[in-house]
Amino acid sequence: MENTDYKVQVFTGIRPSGGLTIANAIGAVNPIVKIQEEEEVGNTMVFVADLHALTDAEPKETQSNIVDVVKDYISLGLDVNRNRIFVQSFLTQEIAELNLYLSRLVTIAELMRVPTLKEKIKKGQNESNASALLAMYPIMMASDILLQKSEYVPVGEDQVAHIEITRVLAQKFNKKYGNVFPLPKVLSLGKPVRIKSLTGNGKMSKTDPSGAILLDDPIEISLNKVKRAQSAFAKEKSESLDSLVLIGEFVGNEKEREEILSIMKRHYDGENVMGELKGVISTGLERFLKEFQEKKASLKEEDILKKVKIDGDIARENAKETLRDVRKAMGLEYF
Ligand code: TYM
Repeated sequence: MENTDYKVQVFTGIRPSGGLTIANAIGAVNPIVKIQEEEEVGNTMVFVADLHALTDAEPKETQSNIVDVVKDYISLGLDVNRNRIFVQSFLTQEIAELNLYLSRLVTIAELMRVPTLKEKIKKGQNESNASALLAMYPIMMASDILLQKSEYVPVGEDQVAHIEITRVLAQKFNKKYGNVFPLPKVLSLGKPVRIKSLTGNGKMSKTDPSGAILLDDPIEISLNKVKRAQSAFAKEKSESLDSLVLIGEFVGNEKEREEILSIMKRHYDGENVMGELKGVISTGLERFLKEFQEKKASLKEEDILKKVKIDGDIARENAKETLRDVRKAMGLEYF
């Protein structure tokens, strides 16, 4: 195997910082489920980003959500026989080590310009109260991706800048020390998705539950949120409407997807059809959430723990092998 060969074909992670939203499912999990259904993909790997969650939560909270996120992945359709699933903190030492080397390749000013950091700063955090871990976040993400020598990374639009930073860090490293890292690419079905909050304020996020469809919530709550969701006036285009349509297409069966298409045509012809659109979306959503919740309830914690242990060992082996290449390239020998 060449140093720069990919080890993992599709790779992504989700933080265990509360229940998953439908946006997490659409942005990060669905691309893997789809290609898994359509073709024989080689090596796919997903993980629970519990170390990343430490940027804004205490370990006690995040640890208790880990098994839950693995259950979410599986209930959203990831085939356990074809996907490796691990927990990030299985690889704490390896991640910390690569972080150290990669941090040398980026300036503090460059980190401060990362859009996600700028967004947090807008939300009240600033240089005097934000932790250094927040600024290190993209480097840590690069470490996850590069340790596994990943090819495609399915993420929502908010994380695309981080994949770009990963590519830049890999290129800088390769230029300085010789080719070690293959370059990762964003995987999305079409353009990267950004599902808006149903209230119209910013992106859908676990941190703002009023505008989020949380997969574990009682179904009635989510259906009510769809009923009240921001949409658009007849003929008008809006980001909120685009997001509603994306949700509808995600949860809908073939017939419902066709209905959505024809309702949208009537919308652009000037008809008032938002109530009808929401009705079709709600039918699909109700079925989707019911199936998801039933599947999740059937999963056993002991099976999950067995799975993440076996797969964690594989992820750690990959990471150790990559670090051996990295150290050799850098000329680092530890006593
Ligand atoms: P996290 O936990 O914030 O989100 C998990 C995934 O869900 C996507 N997502 C969205 N997609 C569309 N619309 C939205 N409103 C929306 N909200 C969230 C995110 O883009 C993401 O793909 N840093 C990552 C976790 C991570 C990771 C990695 C991902 C750590 N290391 C390495 C990939 C590769 C995060 O915080 O995701």
